Amino acid sequence: MNQLAIETSCDDTCAAVLTDGRLISSVISSQTNLHQQWGGVVPDIAKRAHQQNIDPVVQTALKRAHLKLSDIDYLAVTQGPGLAIALSVGVNYAKDLALKLNKPLIAVNHIEGHLLSPFITNRSGNPVRQFQFPLLSLTVSGGHTKIILTQSLGDYQIIGQTLDDAAGESLDKAAKLLGLGYPGGPIIEVLSRLGNPNFLKLPQPLNNKSILNFSFSGLKTAFYYQIKKMSPEYILAHQADLAASFQQSVFSSLTTKFGLAISKYSPVLLSASGGVLANKALRAQLRSLAKKHHLPIYFPSKLAHNTDNAAMIGLVAHHKFLRHQFANPLLLDRDPRLQL
Ligand code: KG4
Ligand code: ZN
Repeated sequence: MNQLAIETSCDDTCAAVLTDGRLISSVISSQTNLHQQWGGVVPDIAKRAHQQNIDPVVQTALKRAHLKLSDIDYLAVTQGPGLAIALSVGVNYAKDLALKLNKPLIAVNHIEGHLLSPFITNRSGNPVRQFQFPLLSLTVSGGHTKIILTQSLGDYQIIGQTLDDAAGESLDKAAKLLGLGYPGGPIIEVLSRLGNPNFLKLPQPLNNKSILNFSFSGLKTAFYYQIKKMSPEYILAHQADLAASFQQSVFSSLTTKFGLAISKYSPVLLSASGGVLANKALRAQLRSLAKKHHLPIYFPSKLAHNTDNAAMIGLVAHHKFLRHQFANPLLLDRDPRLQL
């Protein structure tokens, strides 16, 4: 069964082709350079770029898979959560195509995509990763920070989440305060390698052992008040130390809460995904946490599968296809606040 999957929930226009749930081709057209000068994603600019890019991105994904549109057996698209006008572009495109080709359509939750992204398998069957339950997962992106317990595919329980900013969002905001570029996460990662993570003393929010939720906005405010007292020259001279201190506070909150969740729910397998998992320091900290608990941990096998992509949407759709969970292409609408 050949599938075409589409993702346009934020600022990347993505398409992927999968055959029987295995990834054949994945194309991502990033708009980062369009939004960089504004210091964040501008919805109108994102919409226009998605409209321009979606057809070429789909055609390239098909070409790389050596398939034609007529070879596609079903379509999948991100329904939400995300930016409403960005989601609309993908949803309308997929609906039109499903009606034109008279093929089934599957609606996918973007967070479920990130959740399953460590299990993306390519044409040759690599990497070999089987689902095992209970599976405990950490998904950390620019819009979400969640600990999810999975008992079977489609049966998800959110056992912890952020009460305010997402972890990626807080890294982006801290980078802005330091006068660095957008998105801030990757810039903070590189700077942090040269800095002292203990340079600033920052609070550990929700530091109660029974709480599995996160809070990052207080951390950002504490950071803001500390650097407000510093001169621009001092900030510039200590950019790496400040970046490393903020990054370490965010990561220590993530690993502490994930560790508490592991002890409480006794999973047999761990996974972590989302844009922030592109960060090597976070991966290393989670790997040592998993080792401490004698558990295997999976991350997306390719860096491009951490940030937004359509391969993860296709993998979710494959499992929904097996469960006959189809959408009505006449009625489907984007849902910017779609819950897991
Ligand atoms: O998953 P994603 O591409 O989009 C959302 O669904 O939000 O995640 C984007 C987020 C941004 O906040 C970005 O700063 C962060 O992921 N990010 C990183 C790294 N690469 C991307 N954060 C830390 N280190 C990185 N290397
Ligand atoms: Zn995402």
